[in-house]
Parts: sequence; structure tokens; C-alpha cells
Amino acid sequence: MTAVDDVILRVEDLRIRYEKGRSIWGTPRYSQVVHGVSFAVKRGETFGLVGESGSGKSTIGKAILRQIPIVGGSITFEGQRITEWKEGHTPLSYRRAVQVIFQSPRLSLNARMLARDTVAEAVAFHLGLKGSELDQRVDRLFDDVGLPRHLGDRYPDELSGGQQQRVAIARALACDPRVVICDEAVSALDVSTQAQVIALLHRLQQERGLSYVFISHDLGVVRNLCHAVGVLKHGAFTDIGSVEDVFERPTSQYTRELLDAIPRFPGRAA
Ligand SMILES: Nc1ncnc2c1ncn2[C@@H]1O[C@H](COP(=O)(O)OP(=O)(O)OP(=O)(O)O)[C@@H](O)[C@H]1O
Ligand SMILES: [Mg+2]
Repeated sequence: MTAVDDVILRVEDLRIRYEKGRSIWGTPRYSQVVHGVSFAVKRGETFGLVGESGSGKSTIGKAILRQIPIVGGSITFEGQRITEWKEGHTPLSYRRAVQVIFQSPRLSLNARMLARDTVAEAVAFHLGLKGSELDQRVDRLFDDVGLPRHLGDRYPDELSGGQQQRVAIARALACDPRVVICDEAVSALDVSTQAQVIALLHRLQQERGLSYVFISHDLGVVRNLCHAVGVLKHGAFTDIGSVEDVFERPTSQYTRELLDAIPRFPGRAA
């Protein structure tokens, strides 16, 4: 099938720097944190970005979300070079197409908003639905993410971590995105809840043809969920390729050391 081979998101030679204060003359000082990173995310597949803390994973995610400027390289989404758009001029269609889920749903959810209203707000904003159409859509999203509907009457603090993350996923799905950036989306969950949310992400990918950029420091999780992976160290890939290639035949010493540091897994989970 050709659709599966489609590249939905392409990152080429991406370079990003942050301003690190100013000299006494007032000229900005920069520190470059991403040094020429290239990868492609195929439609309906998951690309894992893995690496130690501070290696630049979230920075790359933010660049894809157009939350930070880039110094060089390009990002292309469905054939459109999104890095050519001016800062502050991100079309709503792109903001709908590319959503994000963060590590801590407690921080990303509004503590004073009921779970149902959190999802309904996003549906109303993106799809302009009201009344019973809105209600039905929200019900369906709750069903899709495996969240019992009655939990809609709770505030985030009255939900478990896994349930909170399901609310965040439902909210992210409200506008029918094509790409979801999962930035350590399961890292804060205990092992069994983590497995459930990973299974949910996998099912949603099958049902909706979603593509994920899955950011994680956990190689075991990446191995279970991702099709391709890039191992990031100080803002550059030490290895990139299919999960099988990188995990079975790593080319760099750094990747080998990372792999040696994790418990052996019997293989890809079902
Ligand atoms: N807003 C910022 N201003 C300046 N430097 C930043 C900023 N955000 C991140 N950095 C620096 O850029 C580098 C990459 O950070 P980034 O958050 O992308 O790492 P990460 O791989 O996501 O790490 P973690 O696994 O801890 O989330 C780090 O050295 C960090 O200190
Ligand atoms: Mg990060």
C-alpha cells in the first residue's frame, strides 16, 4: 500500500539555538542545541526520538509545533515547507493537524475545568459544534480513549494519572490531527498504566492512521511502540534507522552503551 510509505513530516538538517544572555555590548550570545538533525515520519507510523536529558528532544518537538524559531534546515509537512511561514503566522489548519501530548497531564489540564468541559472546549473551538452534536462528539472521544463517560464530571485532581492522560489525549484528538507529538507522554505513569496508555496510542494509530513523534528517554518503551528511531546525543543523531536496525545493529558506541544499560526485552510487544 502506497499510503503507508508516504512521508507526512520531514525534518532536514535542522539547527536550533537558544539565546544565552548578552555580552556587555548588548549583543546576544547563543548556544546551539540542535546540530543538523534529519529524519522522516511516515504516515501511520511512529518515529521515536530518544536520548539523554538535555539532548534536544523537546526542542525538536517545539520546532515542529512552531513554538521556537530555527536557525537552519527545514521542516516539511505534507509537502509544505512550514519553516518558511513567518513567526507568529502558523495557519490554524496546521495547528489542528499537529497536536501534542505532554508528560504531565496535571500541568497541561486546567485544574478548575471538568474533564468533560476540557474536551468539549476543544471540540467547540476546532469544529464549531454545539448542543447535542457537541455532546455526542465528546461522548465518542471519551469512548475512543477508553474513558468511562461518568468521569467527565470530575476535575483533573479527582482522576488517576492514566485517566488524566486519557483526557489529554481526547482533547488532542478533538480536532482530528494527523500527527501527534508525544513528549514523554507515558514517562510519569506507573508500568501497568504505561502499558495501557501505549496500547491506547497504538490502537488510535491503527484506527485513525495517526503518525506519532514519540519522544522518550526510555528505550524499552520506544522499542515497543516505534517503527523508526533516532538516538540523540548533544543535539545530533548517533544512530537513526528502523527500530530493528538501531536496536539490533547499532553503529555508534553511544547507542550500544544506552542499549546495554536497559534490561533485555524479549522483542516487540504485541
Ligand atoms: N528556552 C530555553 N532557553 C535556553 N536553553 C534551553 C531552553 N530550552 C531548552 N534549553 C536547553 O537546550 C538543551 C536541550 O533541551 P531539551 O529540553 O530539548 O532537552 P530534552 O532532550 O527534551 O531533555 P529532557 O529529557 O530532560 O526533557 C538543554 O541544554 C536545555 O538546557
Ligand atoms: Mg524534554
